[in-house]
Amino acid sequence: VRHQRRNAVDPLTDLLSSPSVRIQNPSAVADKVKALVSGGIDRLQVISDFDYTISKFYDGNGNRCLTTHMVFIEGTKEIDEALAGKLKALNDAYLPIEFDAQMTIEEKVPHMELWWRSSHRLITEAKFSRTTLRSFVKVSNILLRDGCDGLLVLLEKHKVPLILFSAGIGDIIEIFLEQRLGFVPANLHIISNMILFDQNDCAVNFSDPLIHTFNKNSSVVGQERAFFHDIRNRPNVLLLGDSLGDLHMDVGVENEGAVFKIGFLNFNVDALLPKYLDGYDIVLIQDQSMNVPLKLLRAIL
Ligand code: TMP
Repeated sequence: VRHQRRNAVDPLTDLLSSPSVRIQNPSAVADKVKALVSGGIDRLQVISDFDYTISKFYDGNGNRCLTTHMVFIEGTKEIDEALAGKLKALNDAYLPIEFDAQMTIEEKVPHMELWWRSSHRLITEAKFSRTTLRSFVKVSNILLRDGCDGLLVLLEKHKVPLILFSAGIGDIIEIFLEQRLGFVPANLHIISNMILFDQNDCAVNFSDPLIHTFNKNSSVVGQERAFFHDIRNRPNVLLLGDSLGDLHMDVGVENEGAVFKIGFLNFNVDALLPKYLDGYDIVLIQDQSMNVPLKLLRAIL
């Protein structure tokens, strides 16, 4: 039955039928889809970025959604206007650099380090409690991509490891999933900036190494060797990202097989598309849904 169902709709044709899909190398895509489908669900792991990949970029009313760091801008607006202003000023200054189409990654890195360190210093100086963080997340405009809850449920059901490799804030991701899904998936493994709390449950520091958009590479996955060893019998990878910095999030994978990379290109499409097409197998243009990854997953099941 399983075999017949696979033949009924060719997974590749099905994937490419989505209007948001752009690809540069159809034959490489066809080979990888074939390898993932024949490997099956038990050979798969999923490595995904969080901000603007698991979460939406636009909320459907023309508003930009928030990143996990931006939760602090929104949350402190009423209670600490000065802090909100400083965090927003950092965002306004550095976000255009993060997505600048002309600058090289090497040129961007020092700016990103400065952005993250300044932002983390401001956040920890305020010594928020975990309860306060929960209240910030509750009112914040972070939304799951359409169909993302279905994807997360399916991955958990089939015990597919889901690695969220995020330069955002891991604790905010956990709180968000708990609030929006009603549970933190059992198959979830977060590699991110984690908040360190003191004995009074106040946020006083961030974990090392600092993860920013452009160091999602071997320099930050050293501590994850045991985790990737445990799942070494899953060589095939579905990688989801929204930035060129997400392209090598599979760096820690042991025994790597087929790696299928799907990139969400959320804005500045004309300038960025050629670079995204060079790196990602499939680029999704201004697509606020998880429909394409879901189609692929269903073909693998
Ligand atoms: P991610 O896509 O790997 O989760 O990256 C985190 C995003 O967070 C990145 O796009 C930049 C953003 N960010 C903020 O919005 N505010 C901040 O203060 C910092 C440090 C990052």
